[in-house]
Amino acid sequence: MADARDSTPVIDLAGVRKTYRTGSIEFEALRGVDLRIDEGEYVAVMGPSGSGKSTLMNILGCLDTLTAGSYRLAGEDVGELDEIDLADIRNRRIGFVFQQFNLLPSLSALRNVELPLMYGRVHGAERRERAVAALERVGLGDRLDNRPGELSGGQQQRVAVARALVGEPALLLADEPTGNLDTVSSHDVLRLFDELHAQGRTIVLITHEAEVAERAQRVVRVRDGLVVEDTGVPRTAVVA
Ligand SMILES: Nc1ncnc2c1ncn2[C@@H]1O[C@H](COP(=O)(O)OP(=O)(O)OP(=O)(O)O)[C@@H](O)[C@H]1O
Ligand SMILES: [Mg+2]
Repeated sequence: MADARDSTPVIDLAGVRKTYRTGSIEFEALRGVDLRIDEGEYVAVMGPSGSGKSTLMNILGCLDTLTAGSYRLAGEDVGELDEIDLADIRNRRIGFVFQQFNLLPSLSALRNVELPLMYGRVHGAERRERAVAALERVGLGDRLDNRPGELSGGQQQRVAVARALVGEPALLLADEPTGNLDTVSSHDVLRLFDELHAQGRTIVLITHEAEVAERAQRVVRVRDGLVVEDTGVPRTAVVA
């Protein structure tokens, strides 16, 4: 099919299926998902409980493999990779932000942000410089030495965003990033996502909250393992 957009998409899912097997029982959690997300897009994924959002997120994040179909991440075919290669592509290509922040409590903000670079084998002064820059970018340049327990929830989530971004990933993947935050902190984090989007970052955010999804430029709705609505696809392209 001809396509007017010629740059390599960050995400390209075609006919993706995911079947879970529990004993002799099979459950098809994704039943043929096509999804293309281009560089610089800010996409919210919504859908009822059990619709397949986390399953989709795990596949997008290379945390799980697909049963059928194909997934190209920044041009790389992910479908064929084993666990070790998946871990590698995850480290290089994806920054994660979770509902529970997932920071290490005994380490300073700076050390938390430096961690992904240690796995990536970036050394000494450069590692520190990049972590400081990432924390400055999220407005925490004056909190480098604070441990997570010495920061507010919103600040902790901003540290997590800095950690997600420090490796310059192609994709920022966030699962209910404001789920544990009060209204003010939620706004801080969402404002940060707006800024990152304005700077050209590619963001995919899973949320239950319509208010959060409204900040995104595009909303993908999932139901019963299928994409049932996608505001980024022209109406004529959607099969009824
Ligand atoms: N490991 C698993 N084994 C078997 N079935 C699973 C497994 N994980 C998920 N499922 C099933 O797949 C379907 C989709 O689950 P998923 O976690 O993706 O939903 P969700 O949209 O994230 O829901 P929620 O909003 O409640 O988090 C559900 O019916 C769930 O029971
Ligand atoms: Mg879920």
